Amino acid sequence: MSAVRPFGEGDNSFQSAGQYDGLLRLSQCFYDYIERLPEAQGIRAMHREDLTESVEKLARFLSGWLGGPKLYREKYGPIAIPRAHAHIGIGSVERDAWLLCMEKALAEQPYEEDFKSYMLVQLAVPAERCRTRA
Ligand code: HEM
Repeated sequence: MSAVRPFGEGDNSFQSAGQYDGLLRLSQCFYDYIERLPEAQGIRAMHREDLTESVEKLARFLSGWLGGPKLYREKYGPIAIPRAHAHIGIGSVERDAWLLCMEKALAEQPYEEDFKSYMLVQLAVPAERCRTRA
């Protein structure tokens, strides 16, 4: 399918991710890994006790980022991912732990394998831009 409908075109990625419901499942699964992977304990500690809003914010952000409705902006206003993380101490260890949780969460979704790989490659770009230190 990717050859026929490239993931980066229109809302193809949003559709491949199962629309908002699919993204909510991905985000929930991602934060479940943040909660329980030893490598992610530093990131867990940066968040509030209740992760419900973080799950929803990530799913809403990803919706617009993947070419779907701009659900984050609708509810919270504009966001620039690097600026939203500028106050957080993020080095390559935290970046890699974030991406590891995402890789594991993607692996559990009913997505095409091509799309999972695509997502991970694409997400590595903003993850690197969130880095505020070495
Ligand atoms: C690189 C590693 C990353 C770490 C350690 C990290 C950590 C965090 C933390 C601790 C918060 C909560 C901030 C607060 O409550 O003040 C947050 C918020 C958020 N993050 Fe990340 N993040 C990372 C990468 C990303 C990436 C790559 C994306 C998007 C693709 C993303 C999307 C978001 C969104 C949408 C919010 C909510 C922003 C808000 O409304 O305040 N994060 N992140």
